[in-house]
Amino acid sequence: MYAQFLQFPDQFAWGTATASYQIEGGYKEGGRGPSIWDTFSHTPNKIEDGKTGDRAVDHYHRYPEDIAIMNHLGLEHYRMSLAWSRIYPEGKGNLEQRGLDFYDRLIDSLLKAGIKPWITLYHWDLPQALQDKGGWANRDTVEVFLTYVQTVTRAFSDRVDHWMTCNEPWVASYCGNLNGAHAPGIQDIPTALEVAHGILLAHGKSIPIIRGEVPNAQVGIVNNLAWVEPATDKPEDIQAAHRWDGSYNRWFMDPVFKGTYPEDMVEHFGPFMPEIKSGDMQAIRATTDFLGVNYYTRRIVAYDPSDAFIQAKQTYRAYAPRAEFEEFENWPEALYKVLLRVKKEYGNIPVYISENGTTTLDTKTEDGCVHDPVRVKYLRHHFAATWQAMQEGCDVRGYFVWSLMDNFEWGFGFTKRFGIVYVDHEDDLRRIPKDSAYFLAQTIRDNGLEMRSL
Ligand code: FCB
Repeated sequence: MYAQFLQFPDQFAWGTATASYQIEGGYKEGGRGPSIWDTFSHTPNKIEDGKTGDRAVDHYHRYPEDIAIMNHLGLEHYRMSLAWSRIYPEGKGNLEQRGLDFYDRLIDSLLKAGIKPWITLYHWDLPQALQDKGGWANRDTVEVFLTYVQTVTRAFSDRVDHWMTCNEPWVASYCGNLNGAHAPGIQDIPTALEVAHGILLAHGKSIPIIRGEVPNAQVGIVNNLAWVEPATDKPEDIQAAHRWDGSYNRWFMDPVFKGTYPEDMVEHFGPFMPEIKSGDMQAIRATTDFLGVNYYTRRIVAYDPSDAFIQAKQTYRAYAPRAEFEEFENWPEALYKVLLRVKKEYGNIPVYISENGTTTLDTKTEDGCVHDPVRVKYLRHHFAATWQAMQEGCDVRGYFVWSLMDNFEWGFGFTKRFGIVYVDHEDDLRRIPKDSAYFLAQTIRDNGLEMRSL
């Protein structure tokens, strides 16, 4: 057995991440307009436990307490998103000053506590009024997004340098418009691909606007990347895994970093391809300062002729350790491989792990603690995998654990707990830092961790 201390570089940004709809609540307060997630969560049978984000974990009112917890844990960076419909209740037109004021207070309170906010501009809560006109499949949505971006970057340019354009365009387009598990709940291949194109365009076109408003802007997109492996070495599984990779990873990486959609997938999608206007790909390719990588799990893929999209399905390997969620393995080596791939294929762009974490069936003990050894182990191994990739030249500059606290996990409602801080939904939303919160705090204090191995 050996023990080794894995030291991270000075300036490495450790933090946690959240998203507006998952934590804020206050869904009708301060003039906020409805988003597609309000509509979706209020539609029967869409959310596993039938709950909504109306109150979520009430961060809208309790943010001072949440900031105090972050402060107590020594977190110096915080990735959060803005709810577009708090600022433009109908997506465009009337500006709601109270929405801006809320974020103004939040940002000031963070800064006062020594915590740097990193802002995601779009984390899935599209104003419903825009969805009513076709959402991201309507190119006008991109144009009004730019107005919203200009408004908020102008408002906060004196205090926020780090901007993330769109969170996980893969999930937003496919889960929302292909399998319908997310808002707006559409199931249509051409729409899903149009939405993907619209979000990528929104990303690219917003970059010059952000740079124009924020003198020291650092701008990036957040992609969910996975390491994909074929279920067997049969040629049909290998090809299916390649298509999965094409639609999942390359479809969202190649346009941003190479200015093209992957040719094999363009051919595969054929008549389903969205209209690409002249100038689109150039706009999408606008220079970014960093890539945000959201990483959760490896994907094992098999051929499935019944799947109309890519004739592929995800399958599982029984031996892989996982938390409570069947889909999520604890497979840190895949994060290491993803990071090396980004270095090799996408020009070693600076990377922030913008989300990583896991869900476990956490419960409170009688003395009011929450022990989450599975999450501590998961984080420990993923920190180590990242460290290893950095030793091999990957330019990783920071790490945001998903999530600061248990919250509304989209289609799963409150049935999943991803937080390092427990939220007691039965007991007035009381917050209790879990063991993993103290583990992260210690890692930040040491700017590293000790790993033991046999
Ligand atoms: C990601 C989302 C984030 C959260 C985690 C568990 O796909 O970006 O909001 O739901 O998964």
